[in-house]
Formats: sequence, structure tokens, C-alpha cells
Amino acid sequence: MHADPAILIVDDNPANRRLYQATLSDLGAQLYMASSGEEALDKCTDQPYAMVLLDVHLSGMDGFQVAQAIRDKCPGLDAPIVFVSAVYVHEQDTYRGYRLGAVDYILSPIVPEILRAKAAIFIRMHRLRAEAELHAHAIEKAYRELRTVHAEMEGFSYSVSHDLRTPLGQIAGFADLLQMGHAGPLNEKALDYVGYIQSAAHRMNSLIDDMLLLGNMSRTEMQIQPVDLSHLAQTLLTELEALRPQVHASWQVQQGLQAQGDQRLLRVALSNLLSNAWKYSAGVPRPFIDFGSREADDKDDGQVFYVRDNGAGFDVHAAGERLFRPFQRFHSDSNFQGNGVGLAIVQRVIDKHGGRLWVESAPGRGATFFFTLGRLSSRPAPLV
Ligand SMILES: Nc1ncnc2c1ncn2[C@@H]1O[C@H](COP(=O)(O)OP(=O)(O)OP(=O)(O)O)[C@@H](O)[C@H]1O
Ligand SMILES: [Mg+2]
Repeated sequence: MHADPAILIVDDNPANRRLYQATLSDLGAQLYMASSGEEALDKCTDQPYAMVLLDVHLSGMDGFQVAQAIRDKCPGLDAPIVFVSAVYVHEQDTYRGYRLGAVDYILSPIVPEILRAKAAIFIRMHRLRAEAELHAHAIEKAYRELRTVHAEMEGFSYSVSHDLRTPLGQIAGFADLLQMGHAGPLNEKALDYVGYIQSAAHRMNSLIDDMLLLGNMSRTEMQIQPVDLSHLAQTLLTELEALRPQVHASWQVQQGLQAQGDQRLLRVALSNLLSNAWKYSAGVPRPFIDFGSREADDKDDGQVFYVRDNGAGFDVHAAGERLFRPFQRFHSDSNFQGNGVGLAIVQRVIDKHGGRLWVESAPGRGATFFFTLGRLSSRPAPLV
């Protein structure tokens, strides 16, 4: 639909046409004139008019016949028709007109201000409709592109899981055979090299796992239920302590923190935040991890939860927009190992809940990750 509005004026009286033209000329619409029904039909294009001003008592085809013919010839032209009549229009004819798309009847001689006001409304409606169509097209296009990307992503995930895992499994398998001495005894150096191959294969396997988790995130259906975040954090921290006892961290978990959300996804998010806190505070003398909730202020969209540590921290400003992107790391592998995928996963989980994730940190000053769970968590349901 064209955004520039046009009005079709159909009247066999030249003086009337001049009057309508003078009345409507400065409303920003193009005016098309027709002196008969036949001429009006010639002027019906694919582009809908903002309004058709139609004389009821045309010589030859009358206004109703013209309206009918316009509808028959250009079914797409569903322009509002304003009938003009010098005499009373019989009630039956009025209804006939409405059925043909009349939106109004005005008496001639017309009051110019009234005609202008009505035309201005139809012009505005036309513009709004054109804008809405434009937006609808843009949304449809974006949706089609998204579907394509999604399909590509699925294909990619498939090829990652099948095509990469198979040779990787073979590399790891043959390295194991070498290490076990199936190809004869290996000297110390050779054993070291085999060890490097094994750990690289192990690392790549964990990268593939993370990539698949990230890729599957958008397709994961959420199951919203009450989640006891305090209990979840407590469980995860106990697991971390068992897994990495060499970090003598102490922790504090605020009791009674509940939210509405997807239990499985929230576990994944909290697990990433807590294991980061655990990992990046390993180097300080007394690592301390705190999970809690603070008062929400006006701009917060729901309760604010946080995971705080007193570890290595990082330069949030330098990280900038890369912060929650996959495969971005702000510490070297020699200090802290990782794939750089954890925070991207957390971000997607929080996004899916309609919440927000942000961080306060500085090098050597620990890090606090805050998150909300949007409207889902605003009314915590009682735990059962
Ligand atoms: N609590 C934290 N303290 C200091 N730096 C952090 C903390 N959490 C994240 N970071 C920084 O942000 C980067 C991205 O974190 P993310 O969890 O995505 O990746 P990772 O921990 O390196 O690897 P993994 O994919 O195994 O989680 C980290 O490499 C680290 O530099
Ligand atoms: Mg991490």
C-alpha cells in the first residue's frame, strides 16, 4: 500500500468538482477527478484511495452502481466511500450504499469545513494503515530471516554433534590406546605428548557440549513453576565444594529466596554464576561467595538477586558489549581455564524469563552479578 494518500472525486457537475478540489487541495492528498462512473472506473488502480467522494445522482450510472462496479472491478480497493447527495436519500438506498462500503452521506451543498474534517480523518487513517502494513512486512521479513537462521543453527548443531564428535572420539580413543602401551612402550616425552592430545580432546568435547547447550537454549520450552533459589544455591555450592575442595571458599546463602521460573534453566544459570564465583576467587586468601537478594528500586523489573565474590574481578568497562557474548574471556587460560560460554548461557536463561542481567566488578575487587526474572518472578508463589 502506498503511503501517499489519494482521493477520488466523482461528480458530473464541473462546478462541484472545482469546489471539492478547492476544499481538499491542501490536505496533502493527491486529488483525482472523474466526471462519470466510467471515468471513475478507469481511475481505479491497485492502490487504494484514502477516500472516494461519490455523487449519488450521477447521470448515466448512478453513484450506487459506480460503487458496485468499483467493488467488482477492484476488489482490493476497499476505500471508504462518502456519498454526496443534493436530496434526501431513501432509507433503502442508504443501506444499499452502506453494504457497498459507504461510510458516510453528506448533503450538498456541502459545508467545506465538515468535508475537510472528514477527509483529514480518512487521510490519517490511510497513512496509519500504510505504516502498519510497512511494519507488518518488516516483522514478517524478520520472522522469515529468523526461521532461516534457526534452521541453519539446527543444521549446525547437528553437524557439530555428529560430524565433530566422531573424529574427536577417535583421536581420544587412539591416544588412550597409545597411553596404555598398545603400540609398544612410550618414552616419557611421548607420554607427555599423548597427555596433551587427551586434554585437548577433552577440552574440545566440553566446548562442543557448551555450544550445543547454547544452541538448544532457544528451542527449550520453559516450564514455569515455583523455584526455591536459596535451596538451589546451597545445593550447587555444596557440589562445587566436593568437586573443587582445593579452593577453601566459605559462603553465605540468604534463606527463603523464591521465584517463579523454569527450575532446570535456573539451575543452569545459577550453576554458571556460582562456579564462576568459585573459580575466579580461587586465588584470594579467604574466598567468600554470597548469594542473596536486595531491595528492588523503581527501574528494576522484579526482585533483584545477586551472586557476589571477593575474587579476581575484571574490568567491566573494557569488556563492554562483549560481556555476555559467547567465547569472550577476560582472564588468560593460564590463570583460569574456561570456554567463555557460561555467561552467554546465563544471559539467555535470564532473557527467556524476561529479566535482566548485569554486573559490577573491577580488577582485584571481586564481582557481583545481579539478575531479575522479569514479571514472572514479581509475585513469588508459595513453595509447596
Ligand atoms: N565471578 C567472576 N569474577 C571474575 N571474572 C569473571 C567472573 N565471571 C566471569 N568472569 C569473566 O568473564 C568471562 C566469561 O565468563 P564465562 O563464564 O562466560 O566463561 P568462562 O568462565 O571463562 O568459561 P566457561 O564457559 O567454562 O564458563 C570469564 O572468562 C572471566 O574473564
Ligand atoms: Mg564460567
